[in-house]
Amino acid sequence: MDEALESTLVTLRDAVRWAASRFSAAGLAFGHGTDNALDEAYALVSHVVSLAPGVPEPYLDARLHPQERRRIVELVDRRIASRKPLPYLTGEAWFAGLPFHVDERVLVPRSPIAELIERRFEPWAPPTVGRILDIGTGCGCIAVTCALAFPRARVDAVDVDEGALALARRNAARHGVAERVEVLRSDLYAALAGRRYDIIVSNPPYVPEGELAKLPAEYGHEPRHALASGPEGLDHPLRILHGAAAHLGEGGILVMEVGATRPALEAHLPGVPVLWVDLERGGEGVLLLTAEALTRYHAHFEAALAEIAAADRGGEGRTAP
Ligand SMILES: C[S@@+](CC[C@H](N)C(=O)[O-])C[C@H]1O[C@@H](n2cnc3c(N)ncnc32)[C@H](O)[C@@H]1O
Repeated sequence: MDEALESTLVTLRDAVRWAASRFSAAGLAFGHGTDNALDEAYALVSHVVSLAPGVPEPYLDARLHPQERRRIVELVDRRIASRKPLPYLTGEAWFAGLPFHVDERVLVPRSPIAELIERRFEPWAPPTVGRILDIGTGCGCIAVTCALAFPRARVDAVDVDEGALALARRNAARHGVAERVEVLRSDLYAALAGRRYDIIVSNPPYVPEGELAKLPAEYGHEPRHALASGPEGLDHPLRILHGAAAHLGEGGILVMEVGATRPALEAHLPGVPVLWVDLERGGEGVLLLTAEALTRYHAHFEAALAEIAAADRGGEGRTAP
């Protein structure tokens, strides 16, 4: 490390200021736990000094140990050179105020559904919640926080990716809920025949394939199968809607994030009274449907799936101009 840095980075405050300036100057993209250079700098420095993100004010004037200073400089350099999301460099992401092990086998947790879990899905959750399903669990953040929010419930956490399942198991153990969280390989509902739930929750892949290449470099480090969902971003969301009625008990609910794919979904489901949840902490495109509505409008989901399948076949048949 050059001498100027050694004498400039004395306190945590110095390190946060310096890291934020480097991030801004490098033109990084944010969105993996933070949405600006300063918060990213706080997250990085907090990690190095083993604190939750957001160093408390009294700590900011504490002096850095030389090893901490070296680690901060190394992480800042790697974040800029690699354009990897910070949680992949630190191995840790925060969700609903809790730390989770992450690596490049899983999406970095950031779903606004965290806010609804903290509210125990009030006022929509059925009076008794005994069974919860998390579809596309990734690192297990939604499944684990649901298990903690509903201490009597059993949670099934499914994913198609073995790496994700391994991380989800590790995170369930880390938070002491491994006995109540069953982590299993399943293509959506395929391995869940006969199982019914009070709450199905999912943050599935929902990015249109053509949009992926347009995203900032940071998103290119996330698994493609965690993001891409067919030409319109609807393949997974529509299959989840279609299968939900058969896996919900009476009074049950489905909560699913579709983000910016909301308009495309609405265009394929005219007349279906989807509730789009207002989120106090920001985020968009989180829908809620009751078991009753999912049953009543089942034919609409079937028709929408047929529409996107027909569009796919049309696309395959087309030749380049
Ligand atoms: C957007 S990520 C969400 C991860 C995590 N739930 C979160 O919110 O951070 C979607 C996850 O769905 C998984 N997935 C993709 N296709 C799937 C399928 N057909 N069945 C089950 N899981 C699937 C991916 O492996 C990925 O872990």
